[in-house]
This record gives sequence, structure tokens and C-alpha cells, in this order.
Amino acid sequence: MSTTATATAPTEALDTFPINGTDHLEFYVGNAKQSAIYYQATFGYKLVAYRGPETGSRETVSYVLEQDKIRLVLTSAVVPNHAVGEHVAKHGDGVKILALWVDDCRDAYAKAIERGAESAFEPYEISDDNGKVVMAGIKTYGETVHTLVERSAYEGPFMPGFIAKKSSFPVDPVGLKYIDHCVGNVELGHMNKWVEFYEKVLGFQLLVTFDDKDISTDYTALMSKVVSNGNGRIKFPINEPAAGKKKSQIEEYLDFYQGAGVQHIAVATDDILVTVQKLRDRGVDFLYVPEVYYEDLLDRVGAIDEDLADLRRLNILVDRDDEGYLLQIFTKPVQDRPTVFYEIIQRRGAKSFGKGNFKALFEAIEREQELRGTL
Ligand code: FE2
Repeated sequence: MSTTATATAPTEALDTFPINGTDHLEFYVGNAKQSAIYYQATFGYKLVAYRGPETGSRETVSYVLEQDKIRLVLTSAVVPNHAVGEHVAKHGDGVKILALWVDDCRDAYAKAIERGAESAFEPYEISDDNGKVVMAGIKTYGETVHTLVERSAYEGPFMPGFIAKKSSFPVDPVGLKYIDHCVGNVELGHMNKWVEFYEKVLGFQLLVTFDDKDISTDYTALMSKVVSNGNGRIKFPINEPAAGKKKSQIEEYLDFYQGAGVQHIAVATDDILVTVQKLRDRGVDFLYVPEVYYEDLLDRVGAIDEDLADLRRLNILVDRDDEGYLLQIFTKPVQDRPTVFYEIIQRRGAKSFGKGNFKALFEAIEREQELRGTL
């Protein structure tokens, strides 16, 4: 038996809820048509599929965008008093569905319900000439849903009901590869409940805990626990606010989102310098970290392959752990409410989350909060 087989076999056997990876993220937005242009023109996602009135969907319209392994779905209601429109009225644009790719949807759903998950919708099968997809939904924090998607037998552009549709202008990808992690903000005192949900229901394991001593500034504090699924491809940090002198960024999120929800989506790149340069050129706004951050950066993180001048110019942050280092940067919120934002991350060995940058980052967020009058 090879070393690899011995090393992976026990983990596979212990995985009580096998998930292949993230299938897609679905946003409910106010104007999917315009959001789709934003993601194509700035982040360089390609339009691949569409569903709307022209294809027989009378009440909602959805655009499906892809870049390497990342798939986003942008959905809006086209009629009044629809659940999608009401979601947007309450929360603003935000992530409704974190879809998980499973091999057997009905089995996964039954297991989740048996272990205490609340149903969002029961398994159903849809099919067209390209094959079939089976889906079911379970509820997670806030009004967010995990759809369990079984698509082994499907060959079409996204799923039955969607037609293939290409971008109508040249789209230049920025080098985004896959979703590294998705962070949820939950109400004060609810973090452990949701960590337990992921452990008990979905068989995730607790990777790391940050308390308010790790994550605090003069004004705000938060606590965070990171859970990960059996094969390690899905990582969900869960944040809750901790008592601070002023309103924490988590409380600001909960106020504007009207409850718990997805705070940020970290997407991985193999070349953060190129990715961030392209995003900046196309008008994506990033949090600003002051010059002083770079003065003793190399003393803090040691030798790195990138040129310090490039990192400083693009305002990219660096952190190191036992296994290597990582480079990261955070966008400002990507919709009008200060809720969902993106992290761009390049891992050079490090498997952690940039703890060494928390303070600089939170101070950057506080400067933004101050401008919004919500600190
Ligand atoms: Fe992150």
C-alpha cells in the first residue's frame, strides 16, 4: 500500500457526509441583468447560462457565470410579491444559496434531516435532453440555504431549465481559480450553535478558533471558528460579534443585512499581483491599509518571492504560518449595503486565514464604518 493510500484512507472512512465541493453560489439581487455585467466586466466571469421569461421562467430571471471552478448564479424576481424580491427588499443583494455538490442527493438530505437539519425544500428531480439533476435544500444561518446538488448524470450548461448563453462582449478572466472559504456572520451567542450544526449534521471538523483577544482593535471585537468538510475543500468560518467600545463590523453587517448571512467569499488565485492589478484597473474598490503596514512587513513574515514594492503599490497583505505564507486583499462591499465583500487570496503553503493581518484589516474596516457613520 502506498503512503498516500494509508494517509487518506482513514479520513475518507471518517467522512460521515461526503461532499465533493462547492457546486455554486446563488445571489438574490435587485437587478440580475446589471449584476451580471459587473461580474463580467470587473472580475472577468464568463456568462455561460440563462433562465428567464424567454425560456419559460415567468417569475424569476437567473444568469450563470463561471471562472475556472467558480460558478455564480445571479437571480432576480421579475414580478412583485415574489420570495426573491422580498428577500432583496429585506437583505439587499446577498448570498441566498451555498450549493454543495453531492453524489446522492436523496441520501444526503435524509441523513441531514435525521441529524437535525431543518428542511428548506424536499428532494426533487429535474431533467431535460442533457440529463437530470436532483436537488434538496437544508437551512443554515439566517435565511441562507445549503442546496444539495446531485448532477452526475447532467451534461448541459448548468441545469435543466437553463439555456447556454455567452457573454455579449469580450471578457478577460482575472485568474480566479476556486472558492477558498465562505464566511458567515451570525448573531451574538449563535456561533457555537452553527459550529455544532456543521459538525453534527454535515460531519465538518473544527479547524481553528479565534477569540476576541486575537481579533480586536480599540473599538471592535469578534470571535470566529472555522469548520471544514471531510475532504477539506469546503471551509466555513463563522463569526459572531464580541463586546467592544463601539459597534463592531459584525454588528454593522447584521444591522444592514437584517440578520445572519454570508459576509465574505474568499477566492483563490495563482498570481495575486496580476489578479489585483486587473481588478483595480477595472474599478474594483479595495480596503486601504496604510503605508506603515509595509515598513516592517519583511521582519514579520520573512523572505517572500514577491517584490515588496508591488505589494505596497497594490496594497496586498501577507501573513505566515508554520507551513508557508499567504497573500490576501479585501474588496469593499460589492453592493450598496455594507454587507457582502470579497477576499482575493493566494496561498504559498499557508493553510491559515491571515491572523497576523486581522488588526490592520479591522482598522481599515473601521475607517470605512466611520465614513458611513456606523462606528
Ligand atoms: Fe477570509
